[in-house]
Amino acid sequence: MDWIAVGLKEDVPPGFVIPSRIADTELAVWCSPSGTYHAWSDRCPHRGMRLSHGFVRGETLACIYHGWQYNEAGSCHYIPAHPKLTPPDTICVPTYRCIEAGGVIWVSLTETDTPLPALGGRRTVRSLPVSMSAPDLAAHFGAAGFTTIAVVSDHDVLLAVQPCTDGECMIHALAAPDADRSAVSHWLEDLRATLERVPA
Ligand code: FES
Repeated sequence: MDWIAVGLKEDVPPGFVIPSRIADTELAVWCSPSGTYHAWSDRCPHRGMRLSHGFVRGETLACIYHGWQYNEAGSCHYIPAHPKLTPPDTICVPTYRCIEAGGVIWVSLTETDTPLPALGGRRTVRSLPVSMSAPDLAAHFGAAGFTTIAVVSDHDVLLAVQPCTDGECMIHALAAPDADRSAVSHWLEDLRATLERVPA
């Protein structure tokens, strides 16, 4: 598994953090005020609170529970209850490679030399959940994998698929630059209804 779409840029503006996931790996995806995207394990090293419930503070992410702040490398650099303490290097959040390209936020859970998926100049439209596993979705379209699936349609749609659970995935859809976003959005809802009627 190389690059996986975990959200759209428009859903995570600078200063925001959201929960996301790739299969069993739960993620806190956040964007710093300077526009750098991050994907971290969604657990605070202190007491395990979800970091996706936290706050972006400057170029750091702060846990909502006791306010520990983690710098862009995932290292704890400030503990409010001990403001003069320099936290040990061992207090750090597992981080993953995360890049925004073409309006899509891509994450790789492992080191990879694989280039980011080609989007063919398409533009992002919307995300929507589908009650179908990512491999089953790829199989439905006869695609070799689910990272991106090109769908023959009037809108030149490309689906970037995010595996969530055994029976659910998230579709991040892109379409031709001149496509009517509203029309594509309705087309996607029809597609979802069709997919969810497909027998497992
Ligand atoms: S659980 Fe995150 S700071 Fe305590």
